[in-house]
Amino acid sequence: MKIIPGPASIELAERIAKDLGLSIVKYSYKHFYDNETYLRVDETVKDEAILIIQSTHFPQEKHWLELFILCSTLKDLGASEVISIIPYLSYARADKRKIEGEALSHQILIELLEKSGCDCVITMNVHNPEAFYSSSKGIEKININLFHHIGAELKNKYKNFVVVGPDKGAEEDVRTLAKLLETDYLLFEKERDALTNEVKMKTPDYNFENKDVLLVDDIITSGGTAKLASKLILEKKPRILQFLCIHALSKDEVYLELKNMGVEKIISTNTIPNKQIKQLDIAPYIAKYIKEKFL
Ligand code: R5P
Repeated sequence: MKIIPGPASIELAERIAKDLGLSIVKYSYKHFYDNETYLRVDETVKDEAILIIQSTHFPQEKHWLELFILCSTLKDLGASEVISIIPYLSYARADKRKIEGEALSHQILIELLEKSGCDCVITMNVHNPEAFYSSSKGIEKININLFHHIGAELKNKYKNFVVVGPDKGAEEDVRTLAKLLETDYLLFEKERDALTNEVKMKTPDYNFENKDVLLVDDIITSGGTAKLASKLILEKKPRILQFLCIHALSKDEVYLELKNMGVEKIISTNTIPNKQIKQLDIAPYIAKYIKEKFL
């Protein structure tokens, strides 16, 4: 087995390759004057199983297209198996029609991945695992819940914290994390207007005064959820409030706003690279998984 670091995830892929002692396939990659992508695989991949690591954050369409081109080219050049590791799988929230006529982009992208020759897709904390697993049947699908891994890593630092989920959808993650941290959890109730994206939230009757609080979500995008939940918690005068998520998609000003509001620390994993916040390295977890499943 060999590894191809997709253009979106070079550092992460190099660390995984190093952990596993796998060699990296050399390829050339550039953009033409009109911004079209040129890609050439520079060594033989015939009869090799290839692991591509490529996250699909902004610019999403470019990163997806690079992945399709890589999968298809590798298969065309004779690779025996193509496995795509997509640490952040974008468009996963377009999984059902909330309004008639909406595109089911999540399902469309998994189908395109299968059609481009990918045999197996591995992702982390996908928005809706059920929709992910029931999409395109001809491709193996694996979703890794990183909260299981980071919970063990954070255990000693966070055992006095109460874990808070901003909505009912966060319940499984928050429960998993609280169990690993050997602490309590509670959930807010959130409603989002499908047209305006406006978020409303109800908090349970809980005394946050002087408590250490860890607000947890799978993803931060506009920051609307994290900002509103933080505001409601901070009004109740906790001792410390920190925010933890898996996929940090926001623009830098959102993290700055949270810090200015009083959120002491913002932590994410490095499914999407970001130098502005503290990132927990997922390379060892992915390497361990690959070793157990494929090597
Ligand atoms: C919602 O279901 C998710 O778990 C997140 O709470 C949400 O996607 C965060 O988005 P935003 O930062 O735009 O509020």
